[in-house]
Amino acid sequence: MSSFSREGRARARARANIALVKYWGKSNVALNVPAVGSISITLADLWSDTEIEFGPAIKADSFSLNGAEEVSELRRVTACLDLLRREAGVDTRARVVSHNNFPTAAGLASSASGFAALVGAAASALGLEHSPEDLSVLARRGSGSAARSVFGGFVEMQVGEAADGQDSYAVPILAAEDWPLHVVIAVTQTAAKATSSTKGMRSSETTSPFYRAWVESAPADLDAARNAITSRDFETLGRVAEHSCLKLHALAMTSRPPILYWNPATLACIDAVRGLQHAGVPVFFTIDAGPQLKAVCLPEVTDRVAAELHDINGVVDVLVTGLGPGLEIG
Ligand code: PMV
Repeated sequence: MSSFSREGRARARARANIALVKYWGKSNVALNVPAVGSISITLADLWSDTEIEFGPAIKADSFSLNGAEEVSELRRVTACLDLLRREAGVDTRARVVSHNNFPTAAGLASSASGFAALVGAAASALGLEHSPEDLSVLARRGSGSAARSVFGGFVEMQVGEAADGQDSYAVPILAAEDWPLHVVIAVTQTAAKATSSTKGMRSSETTSPFYRAWVESAPADLDAARNAITSRDFETLGRVAEHSCLKLHALAMTSRPPILYWNPATLACIDAVRGLQHAGVPVFFTIDAGPQLKAVCLPEVTDRVAAELHDINGVVDVLVTGLGPGLEIG
């Protein structure tokens, strides 16, 4: 790294996303390349706003989230900024100030929106010109799911083939306004999860007897989901998404030691969604590495789905959102 320094300041907004075909497992840990592709939807109303300032007077990187210094995440933030500093040929330190508009305590993953906003703001502050695909590669280095938050609407993450991971980035499938689905998030626990996705993946890769089948069956799920999205086939998309979600949790449960991300309220929410489906309501569920259930539905049934999930014992909050745009810089 050179000793050139540079002053610059920029801000960016990126939104959270939820995978319908899940990512779980890495083929290259150092470069954070996923072992399987994934398909997600970007959420309109859950975002991270990040402001970054590079300057010679700043002696060390710092990262504050929602007004508090986040020492535990600083190493990942610095590692991500180092990639951009190297590219710009500078070693200037930075002050990063980030805010999530959704409750971090709600246990909803903020690394996707957080790292997408971080690379967008940092690249702009350093005057680097990047294509959205390049920004997606950089965001992936911070967090696998962040690569998808660079784009809006329906998004596919590709594993790529290059040894350096440079073709492992996300691409848009369909814009948010072209199929305006809604997402109802049932928050069932506000404490931080016990096993991070990075740790959980590592464990599943090396100990679950089903890991190989997971990797081998992913391309068929991706094809089915992509086709369902382009043809707006809600029922097929729901079937594939629930299958992919349950496979991920089967991997977690069959890891050693076992990882169980659900609590009784998560299961009650699954039951409620299945009850609605039997009544002909267009809704399906998905669950990430935590106990919150996300119900995806057509807009005309959102209120009914939200009311049903709200009434479940153990559901502490219900958030409703539509689909939104990708990374916004400036
Ligand atoms: O991006 P990470 O490392 O936080 O992993 C995300 C893993 C899941 O949220 C469980 C699935 C996904 O595809 O987002």
